Amino acid sequence: MVNALPAGGARAVARCDALGVAPYSDMESGLYRGYLTPAYAAAQTALAGWMEDAGMIVRRDAAANLVGRYEGRTPDAPALLIGSHLDSVRDGGRYDGPLGIMLGVEAVDALRAADRRMPFAIEVIAFGDEEGSRFPAAMLTSRAVAGTLDAESLNIADPQGVALADAGVDVSTYLTAARAPGSTLAYLEAHIEQGPVLEAEGLAVGTVTGIAAQLRYQVQIDGVAGHAGTTSMALRRDALAGVAEMILAIERIARDDGADLVATVGRIEALPGAANVIPGSVRFTLDIRSGDIGRRNEAAETILDRVADIANARGLDFSVEQVHDLPASPCDPALMDVMDAAIADAGQPVRRLVSGAGHDAMVMAAFCPTAMLFIRCKGGVSHNPAEHVDPADAEIALGVMLGFIERMGAAHVV
Ligand code: GLV
Ligand code: MN
Ligand code: MN
Repeated sequence: MVNALPAGGARAVARCDALGVAPYSDMESGLYRGYLTPAYAAAQTALAGWMEDAGMIVRRDAAANLVGRYEGRTPDAPALLIGSHLDSVRDGGRYDGPLGIMLGVEAVDALRAADRRMPFAIEVIAFGDEEGSRFPAAMLTSRAVAGTLDAESLNIADPQGVALADAGVDVSTYLTAARAPGSTLAYLEAHIEQGPVLEAEGLAVGTVTGIAAQLRYQVQIDGVAGHAGTTSMALRRDALAGVAEMILAIERIARDDGADLVATVGRIEALPGAANVIPGSVRFTLDIRSGDIGRRNEAAETILDRVADIANARGLDFSVEQVHDLPASPCDPALMDVMDAAIADAGQPVRRLVSGAGHDAMVMAAFCPTAMLFIRCKGGVSHNPAEHVDPADAEIALGVMLGFIERMGAAHVV
Protein backbone atom coordinates (compact mmCIF):
# COMPACT_ATOMS: atom_id res chain seq x y z
CA MET A 1 0.00 0.00 0.00
CA VAL A 2 1.43 3.33 -1.06
CA ASN A 3 0.96 6.23 1.28
CA ALA A 4 0.71 9.79 0.04
CA LEU A 5 4.00 11.65 0.26
CA PRO A 6 4.08 13.97 3.26
CA ALA A 7 1.84 16.94 2.47
CA GLY A 8 1.07 15.88 -1.12
CA GLY A 9 -2.49 17.16 -0.68
CA ALA A 10 -1.23 20.48 0.62
CA ARG A 11 1.13 20.74 -2.35
CA ALA A 12 -1.81 20.10 -4.71
CA VAL A 13 -3.72 22.96 -3.06
CA ALA A 14 -0.65 25.22 -3.18
CA ARG A 15 -0.23 24.53 -6.89
CA CYS A 16 -3.85 25.52 -7.52
CA ASP A 17 -3.13 28.72 -5.60
CA ALA A 18 -0.01 29.34 -7.68
CA LEU A 19 -2.11 29.02 -10.85
CA GLY A 20 -4.67 31.48 -9.47
CA VAL A 21 -2.80 34.63 -10.51
CA ALA A 22 -1.12 36.09 -13.62
CA PRO A 23 0.42 34.81 -15.84
CA TYR A 24 -1.86 31.82 -15.21
CA SER A 25 -4.93 34.05 -15.13
CA ASP A 26 -6.19 36.20 -18.01
CA MET A 27 -7.59 38.73 -15.47
CA GLU A 28 -5.60 41.48 -13.80
CA SER A 29 -6.96 40.64 -10.38
CA GLY A 30 -8.79 37.40 -9.78
CA LEU A 31 -8.87 34.25 -11.86
CA TYR A 32 -10.14 33.68 -15.36
CA ARG A 33 -8.42 31.03 -17.41
CA GLY A 34 -10.16 30.46 -20.73
CA TYR A 35 -9.47 27.59 -23.11
CA LEU A 36 -6.48 28.35 -25.40
CA THR A 37 -5.74 31.78 -23.91
CA PRO A 38 -2.22 32.93 -22.92
CA ALA A 39 -3.02 32.00 -19.30
CA TYR A 40 -4.05 28.54 -20.43
CA ALA A 41 -0.72 28.06 -22.25
CA ALA A 42 1.22 29.28 -19.21
CA ALA A 43 -0.69 26.93 -16.90
CA GLN A 44 -0.02 24.00 -19.24
CA THR A 45 3.71 24.78 -19.17
CA ALA A 46 3.77 24.80 -15.36
CA LEU A 47 1.71 21.62 -15.18
CA ALA A 48 3.90 19.83 -17.72
CA GLY A 49 6.90 20.49 -15.44
CA TRP A 50 5.06 19.07 -12.41
CA MET A 51 3.99 16.02 -14.40
CA GLU A 52 7.58 15.40 -15.53
CA ASP A 53 8.84 15.75 -11.97
CA ALA A 54 6.33 13.05 -11.00
CA GLY A 55 7.83 10.67 -13.55
CA MET A 56 5.35 11.12 -16.39
CA ILE A 57 5.88 11.44 -20.13
CA VAL A 58 3.92 14.52 -21.20
CA ARG A 59 2.11 15.32 -24.45
CA ARG A 60 -0.61 17.66 -25.72
CA ASP A 61 -3.38 15.84 -27.54
CA ALA A 62 -5.16 17.07 -30.67
CA ALA A 63 -7.75 18.95 -28.59
CA ALA A 64 -4.98 20.72 -26.61
CA ASN A 65 -5.54 18.68 -23.47
CA LEU A 66 -2.34 18.07 -21.50
CA VAL A 67 -1.71 14.38 -20.79
CA GLY A 68 0.97 12.86 -18.52
CA ARG A 69 1.54 9.10 -18.72
CA TYR A 70 3.09 6.90 -16.02
CA GLU A 71 3.71 3.46 -17.51
CA GLY A 72 2.36 0.32 -15.90
CA ARG A 73 3.77 -3.19 -15.62
CA THR A 74 1.79 -4.53 -18.57
CA PRO A 75 2.46 -2.65 -21.79
CA ASP A 76 -0.70 -1.71 -23.67
CA ALA A 77 -3.07 -2.69 -20.83
CA PRO A 78 -6.02 -0.25 -20.75
CA ALA A 79 -4.93 2.82 -18.79
CA LEU A 80 -6.52 4.36 -15.71
CA LEU A 81 -7.30 7.98 -16.58
CA ILE A 82 -7.32 10.54 -13.77
CA GLY A 83 -8.36 14.05 -14.62
CA SER A 84 -10.35 17.24 -14.40
CA HIS A 85 -10.23 20.63 -16.13
CA LEU A 86 -7.69 23.43 -16.27
CA ASP A 87 -10.05 26.18 -17.46
CA SER A 88 -12.08 28.34 -15.08
CA VAL A 89 -15.15 30.53 -15.12
CA ARG A 90 -14.69 34.32 -15.13
CA ASP A 91 -13.61 35.59 -11.72
CA GLY A 92 -13.79 32.02 -10.46
CA GLY A 93 -12.21 30.00 -7.69
CA ARG A 94 -8.82 28.30 -7.79
CA TYR A 95 -9.82 24.70 -7.10
CA ASP A 96 -12.80 23.96 -9.39
CA GLY A 97 -11.00 21.71 -11.85
CA PRO A 98 -7.29 22.13 -11.14
CA LEU A 99 -7.46 20.39 -7.75
CA GLY A 100 -8.48 17.09 -9.37
CA ILE A 101 -5.56 17.36 -11.80
CA MET A 102 -3.03 18.26 -9.11
CA LEU A 103 -4.21 15.39 -6.91
CA GLY A 104 -3.75 13.05 -9.89
CA VAL A 105 -0.17 14.29 -10.25
CA GLU A 106 0.40 13.77 -6.51
CA ALA A 107 -0.97 10.21 -6.69
CA VAL A 108 1.48 9.37 -9.47
CA ASP A 109 4.30 11.10 -7.61
CA ALA A 110 3.61 8.93 -4.57
CA LEU A 111 3.83 5.79 -6.74
CA ARG A 112 7.07 7.05 -8.32
CA ALA A 113 8.61 7.80 -4.94
CA ALA A 114 7.73 4.27 -3.75
CA ASP A 115 9.12 2.83 -7.01
CA ARG A 116 5.72 1.26 -7.72
CA ARG A 117 4.14 0.40 -11.04
CA MET A 118 0.52 -0.70 -11.30
CA PRO A 119 -0.59 -3.45 -13.71
CA PHE A 120 -1.93 -0.61 -15.90
CA ALA A 121 -0.56 2.75 -16.97
CA ILE A 122 -1.95 5.85 -15.25
CA GLU A 123 -2.60 8.91 -17.37
CA VAL A 124 -3.35 12.25 -15.78
CA ILE A 125 -5.39 14.40 -18.16
CA ALA A 126 -5.97 18.15 -17.83
CA PHE A 127 -9.01 18.93 -19.95
CA GLY A 128 -9.04 22.34 -21.64
CA ASP A 129 -12.68 23.36 -22.00
CA GLU A 130 -15.10 22.16 -19.37
CA GLU A 131 -16.71 25.41 -18.29
CA GLY A 132 -17.58 26.82 -21.70
CA SER A 133 -16.33 30.16 -20.38
CA ARG A 134 -14.74 31.25 -23.65
CA PHE A 135 -16.48 29.50 -26.56
CA PRO A 136 -20.25 28.85 -26.72
CA ALA A 137 -19.80 25.15 -25.99
CA ALA A 138 -18.87 23.24 -22.87
CA MET A 139 -16.89 20.07 -22.26
CA LEU A 140 -15.57 20.38 -25.77
CA THR A 141 -12.30 18.68 -24.90
CA SER A 142 -13.66 15.71 -22.94
CA ARG A 143 -16.21 15.19 -25.72
CA ALA A 144 -13.29 15.07 -28.16
CA VAL A 145 -11.54 12.43 -26.02
CA ALA A 146 -14.74 10.39 -25.51
CA GLY A 147 -15.43 10.48 -29.26
CA THR A 148 -18.85 12.12 -28.85
CA LEU A 149 -18.01 15.38 -30.64
CA ASP A 150 -18.86 16.07 -34.28
CA ALA A 151 -17.00 18.31 -36.73
CA GLU A 152 -19.90 20.79 -36.89
CA SER A 153 -19.46 21.58 -33.16
CA LEU A 154 -16.00 22.98 -33.93
CA ASN A 155 -17.47 25.77 -36.02
CA ILE A 156 -17.64 28.25 -33.12
CA ALA A 157 -16.14 31.59 -32.17
CA ASP A 158 -15.57 33.39 -28.87
CA PRO A 159 -17.39 36.68 -28.06
CA GLN A 160 -14.50 38.62 -29.63
CA GLY A 161 -15.10 36.79 -32.91
CA VAL A 162 -11.99 34.58 -32.71
CA ALA A 163 -12.87 31.25 -34.31
CA LEU A 164 -11.78 28.04 -32.58
CA ALA A 165 -9.91 27.26 -35.82
CA ASP A 166 -7.77 30.39 -35.28
CA ALA A 167 -7.31 29.99 -31.53
CA GLY A 168 -4.34 27.60 -31.53
CA VAL A 169 -5.76 24.20 -32.46
CA ASP A 170 -6.03 22.43 -35.81
CA VAL A 171 -9.73 21.74 -36.27
CA SER A 172 -8.99 19.35 -39.15
CA THR A 173 -7.28 16.93 -36.73
CA TYR A 174 -9.17 17.90 -33.54
CA LEU A 175 -11.39 14.83 -33.49
CA THR A 176 -8.35 12.53 -33.53
CA ALA A 177 -8.12 13.26 -29.79
CA ALA A 178 -10.78 10.50 -29.52
CA ARG A 179 -9.41 7.52 -27.63
CA ALA A 180 -9.78 4.02 -29.00
CA PRO A 181 -12.68 2.07 -27.49
CA GLY A 182 -11.36 -0.34 -24.87
CA SER A 183 -8.15 1.66 -24.35
CA THR A 184 -9.26 3.04 -20.99
CA LEU A 185 -9.83 1.02 -17.84
CA ALA A 186 -11.74 3.77 -16.04
CA TYR A 187 -11.88 7.53 -15.53
CA LEU A 188 -11.40 8.90 -12.01
CA GLU A 189 -12.13 12.55 -11.16
CA ALA A 190 -11.67 14.20 -7.79
CA HIS A 191 -13.45 17.56 -7.49
CA ILE A 192 -14.59 20.00 -4.86
CA GLU A 193 -18.24 19.40 -4.01
CA GLN A 194 -19.34 22.95 -4.93
CA GLY A 195 -22.25 22.44 -2.55
CA PRO A 196 -22.87 22.39 1.20
CA VAL A 197 -23.63 18.73 1.98
CA LEU A 198 -20.22 17.45 3.09
CA GLU A 199 -19.52 20.51 5.22
CA ALA A 200 -22.95 20.34 6.86
CA GLU A 201 -22.33 16.72 7.81
CA GLY A 202 -18.74 17.25 8.95
CA LEU A 203 -17.30 15.05 6.20
CA ALA A 204 -14.08 15.60 4.23
CA VAL A 205 -14.98 13.46 1.20
CA GLY A 206 -17.86 11.63 -0.45
CA THR A 207 -18.56 9.17 -3.27
CA VAL A 208 -20.48 10.67 -6.20
CA THR A 209 -23.38 8.59 -7.50
CA GLY A 210 -24.15 10.59 -10.65
CA ILE A 211 -24.44 14.01 -12.28
CA ALA A 212 -27.56 16.03 -13.17
CA ALA A 213 -28.64 16.50 -16.81
CA GLN A 214 -27.78 19.86 -18.40
CA LEU A 215 -29.16 21.98 -21.24
CA ARG A 216 -27.69 25.25 -22.40
CA TYR A 217 -29.03 27.80 -24.91
CA GLN A 218 -28.00 31.09 -26.53
CA VAL A 219 -31.05 33.32 -26.86
CA GLN A 220 -31.21 36.35 -29.13
CA ILE A 221 -33.86 39.05 -28.72
CA ASP A 222 -34.14 41.86 -31.27
CA GLY A 223 -36.13 45.07 -30.97
CA VAL A 224 -35.31 48.52 -32.31
CA ALA A 225 -32.50 50.76 -31.09
CA GLY A 226 -33.51 54.40 -30.82
CA HIS A 227 -32.99 57.75 -29.14
CA ALA A 228 -33.45 57.55 -25.36
CA GLY A 229 -34.67 61.14 -25.18
CA THR A 230 -37.07 61.36 -28.11
CA THR A 231 -38.76 57.94 -28.38
CA SER A 232 -41.90 57.88 -26.26
CA MET A 233 -42.40 54.87 -24.02
CA ALA A 234 -45.39 53.67 -26.03
CA LEU A 235 -43.39 53.52 -29.26
CA ARG A 236 -40.41 51.57 -27.95
CA ARG A 237 -39.38 48.01 -28.78
CA ASP A 238 -36.78 47.77 -26.01
CA ALA A 239 -35.02 44.39 -26.15
CA LEU A 240 -33.45 44.75 -22.70
CA ALA A 241 -36.70 45.56 -20.90
CA GLY A 242 -38.21 42.48 -22.59
CA VAL A 243 -35.31 40.33 -21.45
CA ALA A 244 -35.70 41.62 -17.89
CA GLU A 245 -39.26 40.29 -17.93
CA MET A 246 -38.06 37.00 -19.42
CA ILE A 247 -35.39 36.48 -16.74
CA LEU A 248 -37.93 36.92 -13.95
CA ALA A 249 -40.30 34.50 -15.70
CA ILE A 250 -37.50 31.93 -16.01
CA GLU A 251 -36.72 32.28 -12.31
CA ARG A 252 -40.39 31.83 -11.41
CA ILE A 253 -40.80 28.68 -13.51
CA ALA A 254 -37.70 27.07 -11.94
CA ARG A 255 -38.77 28.07 -8.41
CA ASP A 256 -42.23 26.65 -8.95
CA ASP A 257 -40.72 23.25 -9.80
CA GLY A 258 -40.13 22.68 -6.10
CA ALA A 259 -37.73 19.77 -6.75
CA ASP A 260 -34.14 19.89 -8.00
CA LEU A 261 -34.75 21.89 -11.19
CA VAL A 262 -32.49 24.95 -11.60
CA ALA A 263 -32.43 27.56 -14.38
CA THR A 264 -29.90 30.36 -14.76
CA VAL A 265 -29.34 33.33 -17.05
CA GLY A 266 -25.61 33.79 -16.49
CA ARG A 267 -24.45 36.07 -19.25
CA ILE A 268 -26.21 38.96 -20.92
CA GLU A 269 -25.03 41.36 -23.58
CA ALA A 270 -27.10 44.41 -24.56
CA LEU A 271 -26.32 46.38 -27.72
CA PRO A 272 -25.50 48.99 -28.71
CA GLY A 273 -24.73 49.53 -25.01
CA ALA A 274 -24.93 53.30 -24.55
CA ALA A 275 -26.63 55.35 -21.81
CA ASN A 276 -28.67 57.38 -24.33
CA VAL A 277 -29.70 54.58 -26.72
CA ILE A 278 -32.64 52.17 -26.29
CA PRO A 279 -31.16 48.64 -26.39
CA GLY A 280 -32.04 47.17 -29.77
CA SER A 281 -30.55 43.74 -29.38
CA VAL A 282 -29.79 41.41 -26.45
CA ARG A 283 -28.13 38.01 -26.27
CA PHE A 284 -28.29 35.89 -23.15
CA THR A 285 -27.35 32.39 -22.03
CA LEU A 286 -29.85 30.02 -20.44
CA ASP A 287 -28.72 26.98 -18.41
CA ILE A 288 -31.30 24.42 -17.20
CA ARG A 289 -30.54 21.32 -15.08
CA SER A 290 -32.23 18.51 -13.20
CA GLY A 291 -31.35 14.99 -12.13
CA ASP A 292 -34.48 13.95 -14.04
CA ILE A 293 -34.06 14.52 -17.78
CA GLY A 294 -37.84 14.43 -18.37
CA ARG A 295 -38.43 17.21 -15.84
CA ARG A 296 -35.54 19.18 -17.35
CA ASN A 297 -36.95 18.91 -20.88
CA GLU A 298 -40.46 19.82 -19.77
CA ALA A 299 -39.16 22.89 -17.95
CA ALA A 300 -37.12 23.92 -20.99
CA GLU A 301 -40.23 23.76 -23.16
CA THR A 302 -42.26 25.80 -20.66
CA ILE A 303 -39.48 28.38 -20.37
CA LEU A 304 -38.95 28.79 -24.11
CA ASP A 305 -42.72 29.08 -24.71
CA ARG A 306 -42.91 31.80 -22.05
CA VAL A 307 -39.92 33.66 -23.53
CA ALA A 308 -41.59 33.52 -26.97
CA ASP A 309 -44.87 34.85 -25.51
CA ILE A 310 -43.12 37.79 -23.85
CA ALA A 311 -41.25 38.56 -27.08
CA ASN A 312 -44.49 38.48 -29.11
CA ALA A 313 -46.36 40.67 -26.64
CA ARG A 314 -43.59 43.28 -26.88
CA GLY A 315 -43.10 43.11 -30.65
CA LEU A 316 -39.61 41.63 -30.28
CA ASP A 317 -37.98 39.03 -32.53
CA PHE A 318 -36.81 35.90 -30.81
CA SER A 319 -34.38 33.16 -31.82
CA VAL A 320 -32.79 30.41 -29.79
CA GLU A 321 -29.88 28.06 -30.36
CA GLN A 322 -29.24 25.00 -28.21
CA VAL A 323 -25.49 24.85 -27.55
CA HIS A 324 -25.22 22.03 -25.02
CA ASP A 325 -27.25 18.95 -24.07
CA LEU A 326 -25.96 16.29 -21.69
CA PRO A 327 -28.09 13.55 -20.13
CA ALA A 328 -27.85 12.74 -16.44
CA SER A 329 -24.93 10.39 -16.01
CA PRO A 330 -24.62 7.78 -13.29
CA CYS A 331 -21.18 6.81 -11.98
CA ASP A 332 -20.21 3.14 -12.34
CA PRO A 333 -21.76 1.07 -9.50
CA ALA A 334 -18.73 -1.24 -9.11
CA LEU A 335 -16.40 1.76 -8.95
CA MET A 336 -18.65 3.45 -6.37
CA ASP A 337 -18.08 0.38 -4.20
CA VAL A 338 -14.32 0.66 -4.72
CA MET A 339 -14.49 4.35 -3.78
CA ASP A 340 -16.54 3.61 -0.67
CA ALA A 341 -13.98 0.98 0.37
CA ALA A 342 -11.08 3.36 -0.21
CA ILE A 343 -12.85 6.02 1.88
CA ALA A 344 -13.40 3.52 4.69
CA ASP A 345 -9.72 2.42 4.44
CA ALA A 346 -8.77 6.06 4.95
CA GLY A 347 -10.73 6.03 8.21
CA GLN A 348 -13.50 8.28 6.87
CA PRO A 349 -17.26 7.75 7.06
CA VAL A 350 -18.77 6.63 3.76
CA ARG A 351 -21.28 9.05 2.24
CA ARG A 352 -22.76 8.95 -1.25
CA LEU A 353 -24.09 12.11 -2.93
CA VAL A 354 -25.27 13.38 -6.29
CA SER A 355 -23.67 16.23 -8.25
CA GLY A 356 -25.70 19.22 -9.45
CA ALA A 357 -22.59 20.65 -11.10
CA GLY A 358 -21.41 19.30 -14.42
CA HIS A 359 -18.08 17.52 -14.75
CA ASP A 360 -15.96 15.98 -17.49
CA ALA A 361 -16.87 12.65 -15.87
CA MET A 362 -20.41 12.96 -17.28
CA VAL A 363 -18.96 13.03 -20.79
CA MET A 364 -16.44 10.28 -20.11
CA ALA A 365 -19.27 8.06 -18.82
CA ALA A 366 -20.30 7.52 -22.45
CA PHE A 367 -16.86 6.05 -23.10
CA CYS A 368 -15.67 4.14 -20.02
CA PRO A 369 -16.65 3.42 -16.39
CA THR A 370 -16.33 6.56 -14.28
CA ALA A 371 -15.78 7.31 -10.61
CA MET A 372 -15.87 10.64 -8.79
CA LEU A 373 -14.66 11.69 -5.38
CA PHE A 374 -16.07 14.89 -3.88
CA ILE A 375 -14.01 17.01 -1.50
CA ARG A 376 -15.55 19.41 1.01
CA CYS A 377 -15.29 23.10 0.15
CA LYS A 378 -15.91 25.98 2.51
CA GLY A 379 -19.54 27.07 2.71
CA GLY A 380 -20.26 25.12 -0.48
CA VAL A 381 -19.07 28.24 -2.32
CA SER A 382 -17.81 27.80 -5.89
CA HIS A 383 -17.61 29.74 -9.18
CA ASN A 384 -16.53 32.56 -6.90
CA PRO A 385 -13.10 33.83 -5.78
CA ALA A 386 -14.04 32.89 -2.19
CA GLU A 387 -13.85 29.18 -3.09
CA HIS A 388 -11.72 27.47 -0.41
CA VAL A 389 -10.43 23.97 0.32
CA ASP A 390 -8.74 22.88 3.52
CA PRO A 391 -5.34 21.28 2.68
CA ALA A 392 -6.11 18.62 5.32
CA ASP A 393 -9.14 17.56 3.26
CA ALA A 394 -6.99 17.40 0.13
CA GLU A 395 -4.62 15.12 2.08
CA ILE A 396 -7.50 12.80 2.91
CA ALA A 397 -8.67 12.86 -0.73
CA LEU A 398 -5.18 11.94 -1.94
CA GLY A 399 -5.07 8.99 0.46
CA VAL A 400 -8.48 7.86 -0.85
CA MET A 401 -7.32 8.15 -4.47
CA LEU A 402 -4.23 6.06 -3.75
CA GLY A 403 -6.41 3.48 -2.01
CA PHE A 404 -8.72 3.46 -5.03
CA ILE A 405 -5.74 2.91 -7.37
CA GLU A 406 -4.40 0.09 -5.18
CA ARG A 407 -7.77 -1.64 -5.12
CA MET A 408 -8.10 -1.31 -8.89
CA GLY A 409 -4.64 -2.81 -9.26
CA ALA A 410 -5.34 -5.68 -6.86
CA ALA A 411 -8.82 -6.62 -8.01
CA HIS A 412 -9.10 -5.58 -11.67
CA VAL A 413 -12.71 -4.74 -10.90
CA VAL A 414 -13.48 -3.56 -14.44
C1 GLV B 1 -19.46 23.41 -14.44
O1 GLV B 1 -18.89 23.87 -13.48
C2 GLV B 1 -20.88 23.48 -14.49
O2 GLV B 1 -21.54 22.76 -13.71
O3 GLV B 1 -21.40 24.32 -15.26
MN1 MN C 1 -17.03 24.92 -12.70
MN1 MN D 1 -15.38 21.86 -12.39
